[in-house]
Amino acid sequence: MSRVDWDVRGVASPAGVVRVPGDKSISHRAVMLAAIAEGRSDISGFLEGEDCLATMRAFQAMGVSIARRGDQLVVDGVGRDGLQPPAEPLDLGNSGTSMRLLAGLLAGQAFDVTLTGDDSLRRRPMKRVIDPLRLMGAAIAGDDQGRAPLRIGGGARLAGIHYDMPVASAQVASCLLLAGLYASGETAVTEPGVCRDHTERMLRALGAAVTRTSNVVRLCGGQSLQGGVIEVPADISSAAFALVAGAINPDADLVIEAVGINPTRTGVLQILRSMGATIECRNERMCGGEPVADLHVRGGPLTGIDIDPALVPLAIDEFPVLFVAAACAAGTTRLRGAAELRVKESDRLAVMATGLRAMGLAVAEYEDGIDITGGPLAGARVDSHGDHRVAMAFAIAGLRAEGVVRIDDCANVATSFPGFEAVAGQLGLDVTVRTGDSV
Ligand code: S3P
Repeated sequence: MSRVDWDVRGVASPAGVVRVPGDKSISHRAVMLAAIAEGRSDISGFLEGEDCLATMRAFQAMGVSIARRGDQLVVDGVGRDGLQPPAEPLDLGNSGTSMRLLAGLLAGQAFDVTLTGDDSLRRRPMKRVIDPLRLMGAAIAGDDQGRAPLRIGGGARLAGIHYDMPVASAQVASCLLLAGLYASGETAVTEPGVCRDHTERMLRALGAAVTRTSNVVRLCGGQSLQGGVIEVPADISSAAFALVAGAINPDADLVIEAVGINPTRTGVLQILRSMGATIECRNERMCGGEPVADLHVRGGPLTGIDIDPALVPLAIDEFPVLFVAAACAAGTTRLRGAAELRVKESDRLAVMATGLRAMGLAVAEYEDGIDITGGPLAGARVDSHGDHRVAMAFAIAGLRAEGVVRIDDCANVATSFPGFEAVAGQLGLDVTVRTGDSV
């Protein structure tokens, strides 16, 4: 694989109107649900990032016809029981969402299948889906530490369960709802904290009966889905880089268009506003069952805060760049209750702490959190450890750094934000891309 490193410099203040790519979570679900629906689905706004393309290729390998027509993805659904056995293990690259959701969707199929991925994905915890799927009757196994490759035996008869999730994970909840479609009786999942609810919204949009009472979501097995028009809004997790770029620049005046503002995803807005950023949601509307708005951000002085642990699942993917906002704020920002950050595409607490220290900041790391004291940022060489969101977060830090920020190992930015370098230009960053063969 070709190695990509970046040299980043801040050259201007973020201003104007930017667009960021489609929502990653919703794009995965769009392909998965359209594939097992009856009839054709037209998906607009699909994220052509490597993670979602891995999901798309997995369904193509299981006999689903998926084609690009203009800027739409056209999926010819094969129906609940129409998937075909893939000839080879399904390689899901860097994508935890693909692996955990597919584990559920494939646990009730008639055929055997193996799910694998890159080094990072094969290090991530999968017991969190293996254990409840086994309770439902699935024949699923990982390695001796419960990691991928996952081998799923076909022909298992699944039965619905009521599962109290130990961690607030939308991937686990979604995995079980998808398995629940193939199970007898009712599947119910209790969430210990707010989880993104895109799966249940899209299931409903495609005709399934899914109910929610406070933190319990339920569906009955045996339901069929009906394909249709699916619109994917821009990803608030990608918009977060532009939001922080705006928030940390006193002269910034930036609009990010048509961003999904599902209330299970807006922790980044709440946290940045508590730090003193001015962010307005303009032109609020619905897009494919999801709320959307144009986000207007203006820069100003930021102050460090104690982040409410209840906001952690609502901003789970935005912490790398929120740490950059903390680095540019007066005083100390404290985060706790965020041990999940250690098992993302990298250990995001450790990797961000190391990089911010290299840029000259005082950072204290805890098992489940971090304290960051804001201050002047120096140019430095930092390692993203192949984590797309860490790479982009350090690029945003380049806006305020004195000198060049050299970021190692940025190729995986293509998993969620293809074209980031061009948007970064609109945000006032000069990104020089260096490529070479990896060792
Ligand atoms: C996702 C859920 C989150 C998030 C991930 C995408 C999803 O993970 O971090 O990037 O699409 O369901 P958890 O549900 O494990 O917290």
